Amino acid sequence: MDIQEEIKRRRTFAIISHPDAGKTTLTEKLLLFGGAIQIAGAVKSNKIKHSTTSDFMEIEKQRGISVATSVMGFEYNDLKINILDTPGHKDFAEDTFRTLTAVDSVIVVIDVAKGVETQTEKLVEVCRMRDTPVIVFINKMDRDGKDGFSLLDEVEQKLKLKACPLSWPIGMGPDFKGVYSLYKKELLLFRPHSKQSEEEDIIRITDLSSEELEHHVGERLAKELREEVNMVEEVYDPFDKNKYLDGQLSPVFFGSAINNFGVKELLDCFTDIAPYPQPVPAEEREIDPFEKKFSGFVFKIHANIDPNHRNRIAFVRVCSGLFQRNTNYLHTRSGKKLKFSSPTAFMAAKKEVVEMAYPGDIVGLHDSGKFRIGDTLSEGEQLHFKGIPSFSPELFKYVENADPMKSKQLAKGIDQLMDEGLAQLFTQQINGRKIIGTVGALQFEVIQYRLKHEYGASCQYTHVNLHKACWLSSDNPKALNDFIKKKQRFMALDKHGQSVFLAESAWMLKMAQEDFPEVAFHFTSEF
Ligand code: G4P
Repeated sequence: MDIQEEIKRRRTFAIISHPDAGKTTLTEKLLLFGGAIQIAGAVKSNKIKHSTTSDFMEIEKQRGISVATSVMGFEYNDLKINILDTPGHKDFAEDTFRTLTAVDSVIVVIDVAKGVETQTEKLVEVCRMRDTPVIVFINKMDRDGKDGFSLLDEVEQKLKLKACPLSWPIGMGPDFKGVYSLYKKELLLFRPHSKQSEEEDIIRITDLSSEELEHHVGERLAKELREEVNMVEEVYDPFDKNKYLDGQLSPVFFGSAINNFGVKELLDCFTDIAPYPQPVPAEEREIDPFEKKFSGFVFKIHANIDPNHRNRIAFVRVCSGLFQRNTNYLHTRSGKKLKFSSPTAFMAAKKEVVEMAYPGDIVGLHDSGKFRIGDTLSEGEQLHFKGIPSFSPELFKYVENADPMKSKQLAKGIDQLMDEGLAQLFTQQINGRKIIGTVGALQFEVIQYRLKHEYGASCQYTHVNLHKACWLSSDNPKALNDFIKKKQRFMALDKHGQSVFLAESAWMLKMAQEDFPEVAFHFTSEF
């Protein structure tokens, strides 16, 4: 198979959801279809295994949450599918934001009873910003929940996605009979815990007025289904693949992941319509996946997976060309040539050394501290991939050295943890004090724990009253300089040396915006 065909058969995507909506269960069922795992429970038990084999994961284990983001690859219908898992915990939302920069499409899982939840809203907002194609899977249809039309309203209003139902549920909860696939025009009957790949569970009904429908789902539900499908066809636009690919239309499926119901249908449609690796914008130009020369970027750094080795793994998304083992590549930030003797690829729960990887693939590179989130590798061209911004943290604390004998270790530790994207460091211009900003409270504990266990350093936090970190821009350099001078007390530098305004309150930010109309305030480091 030539490289073009290899690229075209790749589908790299992420599953996102509010915790407990069923992301892990759905991932596992997809892997089962792909033959990547043999038994149900494998993905979960893998989660637990990680937590016992790594110090860092102890925290995760204690709290019973998944901090890790991993990659699972499998083959299905001649396609190579890469699922990028995302941490469910809200404190690690920024990890998920960054993972979304490395995928070509997304599946959103929604719990039928809970509907669209806040975490999902934020994540889908990032997808919308990037016009990422989104498919919605409404899960847990075996339980009572909201009706189909209300859920579609939520998808449209809260997620601001234009919904396009491609399946429609028949009943719900104890009454759930299955779905009618509007995509394939066939009835899928629900049998709890069936394997659902058996042909007898699928009944092809091209004409919904056929009496066969009554025979399978009973009179009441048959009538309801006909009415609802009519309404769906009247209210919602027909499916249009190009609109989906442009991020303008989102197919919606209903099912029950735990019962493996509607999952194969979702996967089959996904493999039909989801995009293969797409061009990726760099500061210099757009990089086409079919270009001959290799390029890629680091979207995630995972530390300390193996407690016997303090190394980190940098996850690189291959954007163009062929990545090859033991080949020199340019690390564009440092200008140094790097080569990798044991790049790993991820197939379900296993990881293995690979000789090569294609655009759309994720390779794990051993890193002794050279990489930072957003770093680019190329065959020599000075490229810098865009779209991996830092987001303004929500919580801030002064960080101070608690062990004067270990100040070097502390500085190194903080530097490396920030490179990993665990949190952000701001250095106040007026006094050089350092402030750590995070999305969630949990990171502060993780940082303290890791500094101690990995670097032998101790830190302590003190309170600082801050509302937001704002990156600045202006068409008028003088106005910007004026602002920075006047607000010196509130100015800091981020890790990249960019000026950041630390607003103490929403009111203070509003005043600054009013007083300096020529200065624009941004909540992300890229704008
Ligand atoms: P997450 O990764 O999004 O956090 O969710 P996860 O898959 O872990 O699922 C959360 C809970 O919802 C699990 O139950 C899971 O079994 C259940 N679940 C997933 N899909 C369905 C479904 O289609 N129907 C029903 N009724 N439940 C579903 P748990 O009790 O928290 O965990 P477990 O003990 O079952 O592992």
